[in-house]
Amino acid sequence: MARIVGSIMTSHVPAIGAAIARGVQAQPYWQAFFAGFPPVHEWLARVRPEVAVVFYNDHGLNFFLDKMPTFAVGAAAEYRNADEGWGLPVSAPFRGDPELSWHLIESVVGEDFDLTTCQEMLVDHAFTVPMKLLWPQGPCPVRTVPIAINTVQHPLPSAARCQALGAAVGRAIESFPQDTRVVILGTGGLSHQLDGERAGHINKEFDLLCLDKLGTDPGFLTRYSNRELVALAGTQGVEILMWIAARAALLHEPRELHRSYHIPISNTAAGLLLLENAAARA
Ligand code: DHB
Ligand code: FE
Repeated sequence: MARIVGSIMTSHVPAIGAAIARGVQAQPYWQAFFAGFPPVHEWLARVRPEVAVVFYNDHGLNFFLDKMPTFAVGAAAEYRNADEGWGLPVSAPFRGDPELSWHLIESVVGEDFDLTTCQEMLVDHAFTVPMKLLWPQGPCPVRTVPIAINTVQHPLPSAARCQALGAAVGRAIESFPQDTRVVILGTGGLSHQLDGERAGHINKEFDLLCLDKLGTDPGFLTRYSNRELVALAGTQGVEILMWIAARAALLHEPRELHRSYHIPISNTAAGLLLLENAAARA
């Protein structure tokens, strides 16, 4: 049976990808941010996941306002990236895992979620930047299953619904008959707002509350409506929905192994959280 080793949640700010491409991780602006990652690299080297199931939010590369699925799951053999500006180089394609994708889709639709299935799917910075942050050396060593949650076109799915989706994804993976080690990623956040009167809005107190609650009391976060999340964390701070889904896929009392929090990276309070699942310790 497949085993979920843990979840890693990280911000996906495009400027991070541009900094990696330019090799400026040691510069004063970036040093404290990148210093958060070595403990996560060490953990990945130890547990060696073979697949990453990635909750991320597309920003207009694959889905646009004309067609906006609430939940979309990749079922492709590979996922290409494409030019989205931001000074980001185009990444090499990422390997998929169609067998796990279709098992997951069968299982989650079997639990009455209405998914969009994508046999072609371009992945944007919300997918590519975290992959490069987690596996900076050489070609990406994991197969991937992207799961996109709409944070672009309101109405968005609620925190409670994203939590329920994450738990269904966790059950789906654990019922996959192959012996595969799976890591769950949740990308985005923490608080940020890119436009409008409150552009630059950051809420450290709320971010730290989220970091605390995700480990020990994730149900706490489902009390917030998306309107409240926007008020607290900014219009793009709703990307915390990815973290909520990624946390919910851990069904067995995870423990927090590492976190870091840094203000600002570009317009964003950058967060990183590593939760290890009991299965990784078995
Ligand atoms: C920024 C943050 C994001 O989450 C994003 O998708 C794009 C830009 C930023 O802070 O610059
Ligand atoms: Fe974003």
